[in-house]
Parts: sequence; structure tokens; C-alpha cells
Amino acid sequence: MPSPIVAPSLLAANHGEFALGIKAIEEAGLTWVHLDIMDGHFVPNISFGPQVVADLRPRTQLHFDVHLMLSHPDRFIAPFVKAGANRLTVHVEADHNVGQTLKAIKDAGISAGIAMNPDCDPTRLLPYLDAVDLVLCMTVFPGFGGQAFIPSVLKSIEFLSAERQKRGLNFRVEVDGGINAETGRLCRSAGADTLVAGTAFYKAPDRKDFVAKLKA
Ligand code: DX5
Ligand code: ZN
Repeated sequence: MPSPIVAPSLLAANHGEFALGIKAIEEAGLTWVHLDIMDGHFVPNISFGPQVVADLRPRTQLHFDVHLMLSHPDRFIAPFVKAGANRLTVHVEADHNVGQTLKAIKDAGISAGIAMNPDCDPTRLLPYLDAVDLVLCMTVFPGFGGQAFIPSVLKSIEFLSAERQKRGLNFRVEVDGGINAETGRLCRSAGADTLVAGTAFYKAPDRKDFVAKLKA
């Protein structure tokens, strides 16, 4: 198995000190940060918006992997592109024309991802696999960090990575929610290559050691 990309979620960092949260990721030797954007409507929580992303942009070279948990993600493509997102991932369940939104992201010159909730039928993603750089399988219901991993999603991860191989595509398969050394290993065996970790990363007594275990 090739080494996965590990993307810590800033949602689990101290929200009064995001710059320190970014620094912790750099110090752990990682290259991606996962930015969770919540609107209090698509999910029952509010996180932060484009201004925070824009203000963090000049402080780091980290890849900004932005996960939009918004009812109308299409309305926020331009502000997040302007803020410096490198990648925008939108939910298939949200209220938008998914194909058009993905095209708008690609037309803006950045990477595009499609996300699904744990109870989503993965075949709903099939029409979009040619158009994306990443598929995000949520391993918890989005809204909050620190929830328990939902193992039934492993089947969807297997299905989508098999489809990737069958069609000769090369989108990344990302998992997000309840990821630690143990659940990360299960997801990698199922075909995931990109692991988001919030709580487990920021709470780890030794973050470098935690990352080494996730990548082992
Ligand atoms: C959940 C977010 C996740 C979350 C993961 O709504 O999309 O990125 O922060 O957090 P942990 O790793 O704490 O489960
Ligand atoms: Zn996320």
C-alpha cells in the first residue's frame, strides 16, 4: 500500500488560535490541511468562512483541502477560490446542480471533490467520477468532530476504489470522521489513500508518532 496523504482537520484545533493549529501540521511534517466549512443548515453546526481561509493563506504553503458542508455550495465557489482554496469538495446530497458546481470548480483552476454521507448509496457518485479529483466518503455524519467511525462505509470505499481501478481513473479516495491508527488502517485496506484526522491528530500526545502510525 502506498503511503497515504494525512490531512489534519483544523476544526479540532483551538478556534482562537488557528495559526498555531496550522503550525502544528507543518511541524508534524505534513503538507495538507482539511478545512471544514459548515453553514448550520446542511449540518447542525457552524464553523468558519472564507475570511478565515483568506487570512490563513499568506501564513502557510499547506494544500488547502476545503470541505464544503453547505446547502448551496455553488454560491460559495468564487469566495473560497478567492480565499486561496486548492481543492473544493461538495456534497452530492446538497441542493445544487452537482455537475455544474464541479465544472465551476475546475474552471476556476483548482481541484474538485465530491462527498457523500455515510448513508448515501455510492452509486449516486458514479455520474461524477470522470469529473473529480477526489471522492470523500464521510465516515461519520458531518457536523462535529470527535464522533465514532461508522464501519459500514468501508463497503462504499471498496466500491468506489474498485470503480476507480475499473475505469482507469485516478481521483483520490478520502475518508473523514473518527480516523485514528486503527480505523485509518481499515480504510486504507478498503482503498482510501487520503486520511482526514481532526481530534486524533490534535489530541495526540506525540503528533509525529501519530502520523507515522497512520502512514505505516
Ligand atoms: C465532520 C468533519 C470532519 C471532522 C473530523 O463534520 O467533516 O472533518 O472534523 O473530525 P474527527 O477526526 O475529530 O472525527
Ligand atoms: Zn471534513
